[in-house]
Amino acid sequence: MTGWEASADLVVVGSGVAGLTAAIAAQELGVRVLVVTKAGIADGSTGWAQGGVAVVLPDDLGARTPEDSVAAHVADTMTAAAGLAEQAATAAILADGPAAVRGLFASGARFDLASDGTWARTREGGHRAFRVVHAGGDATGAEVERALVEAAGKASVPVLERHLVTSVLTDAVGRVAGLAVSDGSGRPGVVSAPAVLLATGGLGQLYSVTSNPEQATGDGIGLALRAGARVADLEFVQFHPTALHTGATGRAPLITEAMRGEGAVLVDTAGELVMAGVHPLGDLAPRDVVSGRIVRRLAELSAEHVLLDATHLDRDHFVRRFPTVYASCRAAGIDPVIEPIPVAPAAHFSCGGVVTTVDGRTDVVGLYAAGEVARTGLHGANRLASNSLLEGLVVGERVARAVHADLPALSLRSYVADDRDVFGVAVDKLRTTMSRYVGIGRDATGLATAVDALGQSTVDGDAGMTLTARAIVTAALARTESRGCHLRTDYPGSSESWRHSLEFVMDPAGFVVPA
Ligand code: SIN
Repeated sequence: MTGWEASADLVVVGSGVAGLTAAIAAQELGVRVLVVTKAGIADGSTGWAQGGVAVVLPDDLGARTPEDSVAAHVADTMTAAAGLAEQAATAAILADGPAAVRGLFASGARFDLASDGTWARTREGGHRAFRVVHAGGDATGAEVERALVEAAGKASVPVLERHLVTSVLTDAVGRVAGLAVSDGSGRPGVVSAPAVLLATGGLGQLYSVTSNPEQATGDGIGLALRAGARVADLEFVQFHPTALHTGATGRAPLITEAMRGEGAVLVDTAGELVMAGVHPLGDLAPRDVVSGRIVRRLAELSAEHVLLDATHLDRDHFVRRFPTVYASCRAAGIDPVIEPIPVAPAAHFSCGGVVTTVDGRTDVVGLYAAGEVARTGLHGANRLASNSLLEGLVVGERVARAVHADLPALSLRSYVADDRDVFGVAVDKLRTTMSRYVGIGRDATGLATAVDALGQSTVDGDAGMTLTARAIVTAALARTESRGCHLRTDYPGSSESWRHSLEFVMDPAGFVVPA
């Protein structure tokens, strides 16, 4: 490999909540850090998060309802996860939440306050208590990202923007040696490092309609598979029930679930309440339940969208509490104060990912993962709303401590070339295939069609996106039941014998196979 060279103790790939939290904390511990991000520092998914951060704060910060506690938050998370979240991991991550959010506040993030001066709380799907804190009304992610970017700047964390990681380099026995990276003008380079953190975010852009920004192409899954790591739970792609329906493909503006937390209701185009009689939590049922119900109703009515009616909110309250939603609606020619908002499910979050401990360790020496790209055991088959920013904060911090502890046993190593063939499918074809056959409601015939389509390489194909898509399809085909976000029309029931995660690796020929 030729071109430019750099080195660090820890290279963090990605600059969202998990990556920046880890980078700042590791640098404070004396670790030599470098952040590499493929767009601008603040351009990833974190900045788009609306609803908030789910956390049980101490009483001095928020008006906790008497029935709320970390144990209740764990219970809601486990229930939403449809039997696949891991109790110990969930309890460990959520117990660290209050300290992580205090830390974020200390580094400058400001959350919305209630009239008594404590932090305002809302509810979202699957939460039985008001425990979602928010900022800027519905612009929580933007505030979290702003505060972290500012903190990284103050701490002089070095960041390479517009640099694309093309592979994780490993030595002859598979330990991390660094990264192959292309700079902004496509010049290849090598960053040598004994530790690499993948904090690359999600994969919504594998689908035609998604709430995710264009950077969310699932890179970390492909990079980790090629480096020899296990992935799990990839069949559980969460579709957000309420993205603004405009008929266009690409990124669809999110209509935050917090609106349903504040009384908005889903109505279909025949005027019926969508969630009536479906779940005890009604419009605030877990997300997989609401999305699955909407998709069934759309099929019954041959409709393309349902409606979210928030016309009970007056204009001042709407604009103050939901400024992002209001602006998106107005830009689409809808006045949400006087008319219901057309909405439909859109690809939103990957519940699965690279298998890690709650400290972000993978089973490749020197490779760590945190945030949406990782599978810690917190999300199971369906992530509880607003648990993702919290996971990024908590695990980002934990990874920093893990790397600091591991570094004495890691060292700079020489890498060996990876000559396995990579092939890619054209991005438009990949997205159409994933949306048609690997969305909500899949079956063996459609998934087999997807396998064929994703095996047909083209010169303009994208190898990383294709590998990640193939991993999702392989997992979805293997799980012959319906659970959480994985709805199989040919296997509509859940089975106790399937109450376990499916893990996959990449074999020497480049196929995704059971681990
Ligand atoms: C939302 O605001 O509805 C999204 C929050 C999340 O995905 O956790």
